[in-house]
Amino acid sequence: MGTAVQERVADVQYHLSEVQGFDTLALHAGAVADPTTGALLTPIYQTTTYRQEAVGKDKGFTYSRSANPTVSALERRLAMLEGADYCTCYATGLAATTVLCLALLRANDHVVISEAVYGGTVRLFNQVLAQFGVTAEFVDTADTAALRKAVTAKPTRFVFIETPANPTLKLTDIELTAGIAHEAGALLVVDNTLLTPALQRPFERDADVVLHSTTKFIEGHNATVGGALITRYAELHERFSFTRNAIGAIQSPFPAWLTLQGVKTVGLRMAQHSENALRVARFLETHPQVTRLLYPGLESFPQFELARKQQTAGGALIAFEIDGGVEAGIRLMNSVKLCALAENLGSAETLITHPASMTHADVPPAQRQAAGITDGLVRLSVGLEDPLDIIRDLTQALAQALAHAKGAE
Ligand SMILES: Cc1ncc(COP(=O)(O)O)c(C=O)c1O
Repeated sequence: MGTAVQERVADVQYHLSEVQGFDTLALHAGAVADPTTGALLTPIYQTTTYRQEAVGKDKGFTYSRSANPTVSALERRLAMLEGADYCTCYATGLAATTVLCLALLRANDHVVISEAVYGGTVRLFNQVLAQFGVTAEFVDTADTAALRKAVTAKPTRFVFIETPANPTLKLTDIELTAGIAHEAGALLVVDNTLLTPALQRPFERDADVVLHSTTKFIEGHNATVGGALITRYAELHERFSFTRNAIGAIQSPFPAWLTLQGVKTVGLRMAQHSENALRVARFLETHPQVTRLLYPGLESFPQFELARKQQTAGGALIAFEIDGGVEAGIRLMNSVKLCALAENLGSAETLITHPASMTHADVPPAQRQAAGITDGLVRLSVGLEDPLDIIRDLTQALAQALAHAKGAE
């Protein structure tokens, strides 16, 4: 970044050091009033290139595959929200994961990953990185003994956890895992997509890298795809920036601008998502057709104490199964009207998903079973509608599923 821009950013950061409230940072962090017009919002710098004053003399931007001012503004804001110094943004969440791997791994390296993670992460390791000899060992990272065994059995470059995990909501203790990874000389990467820094702060628990699919709660409105890698270490940041430029994975200015707007309300949205999800979870918990229910904000959640320790609320996601198994679950998902049957999570609108056939279809069936992703599992990303409307919709969809099951008898 050029000196002039850097100085202005330093001014903004200085100004913000007086106000460290999360919601204030979500609105102001990284923003610099436009130097030519004073525009309050960072403009969409829709430009490929930048006029240079002389050979070797530029304003910190040379070509938009390397860096772009709108994307940089988003990076500054996301870094500050996670409480770290460095961030790089990407075209998608999986582009961020790809850069993480290309920057940190060498052929034949070994990594340890949570057994239940987003299906696309599994596909990337099993079907792409495996071609270069990279071995990804999927373990139940909530099982300390299994985790310790996996990281000490072979030299391990990094441990990659998703907590809560998509879609089973299994939690991993971040602090404990950081200790085990660091003891073995490995880095700890936390996919914080499902909670965002509004509800969970991995760097305060010793993580080295935080990954986001900004597609989800960070942008929050179903309008973009994007990703981010945030770190406390300049050296890692240099490697991510270099790799991003080398493979051409940067985010475009317009989605970065939309994300800058969406993230302004992430604290408010996450609080409301969690409040709505708790109400929906309490409704489902007492519903006679619901046979299995997982929500980290409920006392009945198997890892409720860990959720209380490292999350400030339960988040938006609920996983459940209903009487009648796979067929009944599918009938339920086909019967919703307000909730949308769709891939994605984390948007203002409530989304319902069938992980086994949608988001996690590429995870081998045996791995799905081991991770608790049963064929009847339904994932609900509770949105910001009036929770009574969501409950009304689920009530009628559950009735449809029951009527169908009775008709089939
Ligand atoms: C937890 C998690 N991480 C990463 C990704 C990948 O992000 P994207 O779809 O933006 O590539 C997803 C996508 O669903 C996800 O749920």
